[in-house]
Formats: sequence, structure tokens, C-alpha cells
Amino acid sequence: MRIVINPNRSAGTINPNIYGHFAEHLGRCIYEGLWVGEDSPIPNEKGLRSDVVGALKKLNIPVLRWPGGCFADTYHWRDGVGPVSQRKTIVNTNWGGVTEDNRFGTHEFMELCRQLGCQAYFSGNVGSGTVQEFSDWVEYCNMPGVSPMADLRRENGQKEPFNVKYWGIGNEAWGCGGNMRPEYYADLCRQYATYLRDYSDHHIYKIASGANVADYEWTRKVAETAGHTIDALSLHYYTLPNDDWQHKGAATGFSREEYFAVLQKTLRMKELVTEHGRILRKADPTGRLGLVVDEWGTWYDVEPGTNPGFLYQQNSMRDALVAGINLNIFNNHCDTVVMANIAQTVNVLQAMVLTEGQKMLLTPTYHVFDMYKHHQGARQVETYAETKLISCGEWQVPDIHVSASEGSDGKVLLTVVNLSDTDSANIEVMMDGVKKGTKVTGTVLSGKPGEHNTFDRPDAVRPAEMRDIETGDRSFTATLPASSVAAITIDRE
Ligand code: AHR
Repeated sequence: MRIVINPNRSAGTINPNIYGHFAEHLGRCIYEGLWVGEDSPIPNEKGLRSDVVGALKKLNIPVLRWPGGCFADTYHWRDGVGPVSQRKTIVNTNWGGVTEDNRFGTHEFMELCRQLGCQAYFSGNVGSGTVQEFSDWVEYCNMPGVSPMADLRRENGQKEPFNVKYWGIGNEAWGCGGNMRPEYYADLCRQYATYLRDYSDHHIYKIASGANVADYEWTRKVAETAGHTIDALSLHYYTLPNDDWQHKGAATGFSREEYFAVLQKTLRMKELVTEHGRILRKADPTGRLGLVVDEWGTWYDVEPGTNPGFLYQQNSMRDALVAGINLNIFNNHCDTVVMANIAQTVNVLQAMVLTEGQKMLLTPTYHVFDMYKHHQGARQVETYAETKLISCGEWQVPDIHVSASEGSDGKVLLTVVNLSDTDSANIEVMMDGVKKGTKVTGTVLSGKPGEHNTFDRPDAVRPAEMRDIETGDRSFTATLPASSVAAITIDRE
């Protein structure tokens, strides 16, 4: 099957933030997953697990969203600063009703971002907070000079401002963030945005709580009413095998039909970003308003025997394909999508890393983020794939899915997903400048759709070198095994 790469046409630069992540106070994401505390027998630096941080650092995570999610609209940031022994204990009402003692707060999160080398994206409390409280948080983080909040920050041990750039004005305001109507939220958003100030010359980037899936009315009303006060609107879209939230389907051991259902539903992301993007451009023809897909990924029934409120799920080759397809879509729509944050980093939903006590494993999704990381900041280039349709029951998908980009070093990265669970894909990639002997190298992640890593077999699914790449005049050939994700680098020098 033929793939054409056309570097003459581009949708623009792929914002590195498309490769962003999300970590909520939910289940074992923050506590156990990222944070174990300084007294833990698990090796840590300032309380943060060294193994997990080390693995995540390799992904070049550009931005991390925190503290929620639904948790954000119950979170009062002052509870999480100051001497740990004096911090307030609250109930995490959204996620399992567990006690949250706030030992991980603003300073600990900023330390995590420092260790990861990424930007912080704070989701502020609009649902149950106040304008003053949110405004104070920005002042606390970003005010360099003398002020009540900057003084408090210094008292708590941080002399220099944190200079947090990304601020979310509530989360899912249509749901757990207050059950608001778009008209009401849009007015509130204007009010909050007014009091989220720039300090010194540090410009903050304001992201409005956006639509659930295809709620285009939400996007239209918020963009038209509040668009001039913000920089971007968010979008949340999760992939569920079955739409029944009580019986979503299992993460492993699923049927062939569920495999196809998940892939077809994942492909819907293209329609969503296109349509929400079109509405944003209509409301703001300058193209200034961006789309931030700050929650995406698979959502299955929790693993048997685990707390239903903790959203712990396994992660298989099927998830790797979901990640590859979504990232290809975001790359190809980089003129619209300015940030995306997969949910969630550790032990929750479509995680990069799973932990069990001292043990840690990397998921197939982790490997895809690693294989795709050189798309960050590169120039998207147009691709065309001669696909054919494959189906199972009512579900139908193209057999392959692609995106490509050209880095500042001139190397082209082509990422290809083979959606077929039965057939390998023999690809012939056409591109000007390729000739016999051109250096083309590739990595491929493959396995049966349900294959996954366990704490006993942590490397059951891991990337391998592609060994059959053959270059010719203006083209090269390669083979992708069934249900696989490949990252191929073309160095025309
Ligand atoms: O990621 C889990 C939850 O999904 C988030 O807290 C919420 O924003 C969404 O409904």
C-alpha cells in the first residue's frame, strides 16, 4: 500500500504541547504513582518516585495539567501550601470518597514539573471556589515583588515566582464543574478571566472549560461570549468500547468487535477537532483562539478487585493504536490543536506507567509517546495513504493511519498505525529526495491487540527495530506487523 509524503505542504508547526499529560488527585496517580514522600523506602527525590520520574523524563513531557479534572473544582489551593503538618484534610468526593491530606500541593507539583523539565498547567476552581481565591493563586505563583500572596509564597520557601503560564478556568463546567449552562459559564469565564492577571512581563495563557465531545453549542456560545477574554477552549473526548458507562468494556480480554469499536470511535477525534476548530475560527477569524484537548484516551471498566473510584485499568496494544491514531490526528490538525493532555499519567485510565508497591512498568502507550516525541515542535508535512477499509460487525476503519513531520535538522518522521489485527501492511513510501542508500530507520511496537505488560512480564510489549526497510528511487518499502505502530525516520542528507 502506498503512502505519499509531500513536504511542500504543511498545516504548520506541531505545538510540543500536543504531547502533554494530565495528573489528577485520583486513585493512585499522585499518591503512590508520582509521590511517595521523602520517608518512603521507594527511592525518591524530594518525595517524588525516582523510577517514575526517570521514565517520564525520557518522554520530553512539555506540559502537565493538575490538580484535576473534577477534583479541581473542589480544590482550594491554600489547603495545599505551608507546613505539611498543618495542612487541612478534606474528602475527595469525586474519586472514591477517600481522605486527601493535601501533602501534595502547589510546591510539590512545581517540584515535579522541575524534575520533569515541563511547564505547569493549573486547572483552577470555578465550580466551588471564588474569583478572589483563583486570582490569589495566580498572584501566589507569579508575583515577583512584594504582595500579600508573594510574601506568603516566600514564607513557604519559594523566593522566585513559579511563573505558571497555563491556567484553566474551571473543568467540565457543564458537569462535575458546576452543571452550568454555556450562557452562565461564558459570563463567569469573562469575570474570572478579568481577575487572572499578568504579573511583571509574564503573560499567562487562559483556557476556558470547553465542550464534552460533540457539544458544538457549548463551544459556539462560550467562544462568542467569552472568546475575547481567553486564549483557548478545551475539549474532552474519551474512547469507550461501549457507550454504557456501567459496562464500558474490559481493558484486556476484549472481543474483536470491541477492538474495532474502540478504533472507529478513536477516529472520531478528527471530526471533533475539525468541527470545534471551525466554530472557533468563525467566532474569532484571526485564528488566535486555540483548541486544547486536555482530556483524551481510553476509559474502560476498572481492573477486577480494584476500587471503582480509582479508575485503574490495564493498557494493551489496542491502547497503543489509540494513542498513535490520536497523536496522528493532532499532528495533522496542528493549525487548530495547540495542546492535548492524555488522561492520566500514572495508574489512572490510559496511563504511561503502572506501579505496584516498589514495581513499575511502562505501558504500550508509553512506548508510542516515546516513538512519537520527535514530532514535538517539528513542521507537519502532508501525507496521503492509499488505505482500504476493514471491518468487524457494524464497525469499519481504514487499515492504516499516518502523519509526518520535518524536524529542524531536516529529518522526516513518519508515524504509521496498522489497524488490522490480522494482516501485516507492506508499505511503499514515496518521497522526493529518497534514493538507494538513503538512511531510513524505524522502530515498531506490535503484538496481539490485547497483549500488555504485567509486573511479571514488564517487557511483553516493547519496541523493536524495523529490519526490512529497503530504499529505492524516490521511495522505500517496509512491513508493519498486524496491530502495530511504527515510527520511521528518513534522513535525506
Ligand atoms: O479523567 C477523569 C475525569 O474525567 C476527570 O476528572 C473529569 O474531568 C472527566 O470527566
